[in-house]
Amino acid sequence: MTTDLLKPYKLNNSIELQNRVMMAPLTRCMSDDNLVPTKAMVDYYARRADAGLIISEATIIRPDAQGYPNTPGLFTSEQIQGWKKVTDAVHEKGGKMFAQLWHVGRVAHPYFFDGGDVLAPSAIGVEGSVPRMRELTYQTPKAATIDEIKQLVADYAKAAENALEAGFDGVEIHGANGYLIDQFLHYAANTREDEYGQTPENMSRFALDVVDAVISSVGADKTALRLSPGAYFNMEEDSRDKAVFDFLLAALNERELAYVHGGIFDDSMRFASLDNQTTSEYLRAHYTGNLVGVGSYSFDTAKQAISDNKFDLIAIGRPFIANPDYIIKVTNDEELVAYDESMLSELV
Ligand code: FNR
Repeated sequence: MTTDLLKPYKLNNSIELQNRVMMAPLTRCMSDDNLVPTKAMVDYYARRADAGLIISEATIIRPDAQGYPNTPGLFTSEQIQGWKKVTDAVHEKGGKMFAQLWHVGRVAHPYFFDGGDVLAPSAIGVEGSVPRMRELTYQTPKAATIDEIKQLVADYAKAAENALEAGFDGVEIHGANGYLIDQFLHYAANTREDEYGQTPENMSRFALDVVDAVISSVGADKTALRLSPGAYFNMEEDSRDKAVFDFLLAALNERELAYVHGGIFDDSMRFASLDNQTTSEYLRAHYTGNLVGVGSYSFDTAKQAISDNKFDLIAIGRPFIANPDYIIKVTNDEELVAYDESMLSELV
């Protein structure tokens, strides 16, 4: 059992991973001012190419998707070319990489896109300000019109197409952590009265529209989705949310995605709204495809969780920042360097 996580894993008929340890998506805010990946980013990702699958840091699908400084994009040819250098370097070292497609919804800031509307399901803002740029306080968003929703869906699909052009092996749609898609899925952020609100089916519609558009663009084998069924970040918990995720996951079971990935920092956290289950317990009970667990796991606790069939693959975040050679270290049973927030100031 010791080495099972380090053996190849077939995600589906077209993608085989060299092991079951994924590098979690980790925003680093270090792309250049045109949101193009830099040489330092090429080297940073290439150093981690022995992960089973690298998920890129969240990458914005269009200008008004931005809520943090210097987060990379996938909507200009310069950005596509910049990512191509990253994926080439990862492939050269035998690795595989998905792009995480991102729109932050109500925590976007017009500072980043020269004014204009902040779009969200409903005109409900959150308190606070842009991390690293505290002077930029969050605004009350505008409820997206149906036409704007259709354009957003089309822009996710276009960004997925761009990701493949940039050499990515697939895409992970960022549906977690309180950003745009997650905002549609929770009652605290979605009070719409049209076909995108009020019922589990309607509240799941935007997520499923995006999933289906991305599948049409790149195929289900290359499409994955990250979800946070428990509200924990920029979102208030509501006992009605579970029914939305019950509906959504049943619909996803029909779609044969590459995988579904939990979005949580600590998977021992239990949510009252999920019948006191953890993120992975809840997802495992409702989703039948490949499930990626995440959230404060060590290699040993991940090994145990996978051998207990709690999920199929593990995503490792902070330890991968602290240990570019994470896979070598866990293979040789060597001690890991502890993660520290100060490590975020530099790409190593
Ligand atoms: C994150 N996380 C994150 N999640 C995501 O879906 N997209 C992202 O871009 C980011 N960015 C990010 C940056 C930093 C600095 C941290 C620490 C975390 C969450 C991340 O993918 C993961 O879920 C958590 O870090 C929990 O896993 P670990 O770190 O306990 O293994």
